[in-house]
Amino acid sequence: MKTKILKALRESEGYVSGQELCNQLGVSRTAVWKVIKQLRESGYEIESVQNRGYRLREAADVLSRDEIQSLLNTRWIAGENALYCYSSIDSTNARAKELAEQGSPNGTLVVADTQTAGKGRRGRSWQTPPGTGIAMTLLLKPDINPNHASMLTLVAALAVCRAVSGQSGEQVLIKWPNDIVMNGRKICGILTEMNAQLDYISYVVIGIGINVHNQEFPDELKDMAGSILRESGKRIHRAALAADVMRYFEEYYDVFLETEDLSGLMADYDRLLVNRGREVSVLDPKEPFEGKAVGITKNGELIVDTWESRRLVSSGEVSVRGIYGYVQ
Ligand code: BTN
Repeated sequence: MKTKILKALRESEGYVSGQELCNQLGVSRTAVWKVIKQLRESGYEIESVQNRGYRLREAADVLSRDEIQSLLNTRWIAGENALYCYSSIDSTNARAKELAEQGSPNGTLVVADTQTAGKGRRGRSWQTPPGTGIAMTLLLKPDINPNHASMLTLVAALAVCRAVSGQSGEQVLIKWPNDIVMNGRKICGILTEMNAQLDYISYVVIGIGINVHNQEFPDELKDMAGSILRESGKRIHRAALAADVMRYFEEYYDVFLETEDLSGLMADYDRLLVNRGREVSVLDPKEPFEGKAVGITKNGELIVDTWESRRLVSSGEVSVRGIYGYVQ
């Protein structure tokens, strides 16, 4: 009922009368009033005016199930019984994998306000202090070749980029393959993990960590990491941002599935690619090299022109001159 009341308050231009809510939900005025009281207690500013009804002045910046559900505009992600929200959890990726093993469906979404053991790429950790960001993981069970699954990270990066720039009005770019960058600082990281046989994917989890309101970062991250608030001065509503990411993911995922590659998305991706036209340093463990990044292939590889040849980079760390760290 909370979700429905929140949705009704959000969708109305002005006031919604108590009676209207009672009729819509088939409950008593007291029941409506009780929910309004609970919502106020959890931080929503709801005005009530005699003979006019209720009006939502400011929504609480919470990542609760009701809040996210009242904002979600998806066809199949986070459907009925497929949205799990936690105020604190070890890692949303770990939880999503557990849910996958227990048979949770394609499109299950796990969201947390804070993580106690958040995982980053290459065995690093990922910090999401309480009330500052979004930690969320989408569970997919795609019927695609396991070799193509790594492209899903690039699909997710596109969705995050569009959602963050839509909500903040700021330019947001992608550092290949999947760091989201604002003002040259990383505001989001994506960690995709897969459980597959040679020719069959059991499941994929796509973990997305967005720094939304962080004001401070540990010393070792200070020059690299940013948050939407620190870089743009804008305070974004986290649940609305999470909902937008999922809406755009559905859209891009459809395009990806048509060809099982990025042919339909690479032009969009290239436009957002912070590496494009810049000197990059490819930290290939066997043979590091430098060159100019040109764009991506339909398989998601980064195209790098060196002075002697064109090389395709499919994995590994790539630093971009001028973007966190690589300055020489
Ligand atoms: C990176 O190193 O850039 C990837 C960071 C991914 C962090 C997210 S937060 C939600 C999900 N749960 C995790 O434990 N990690 C990912």
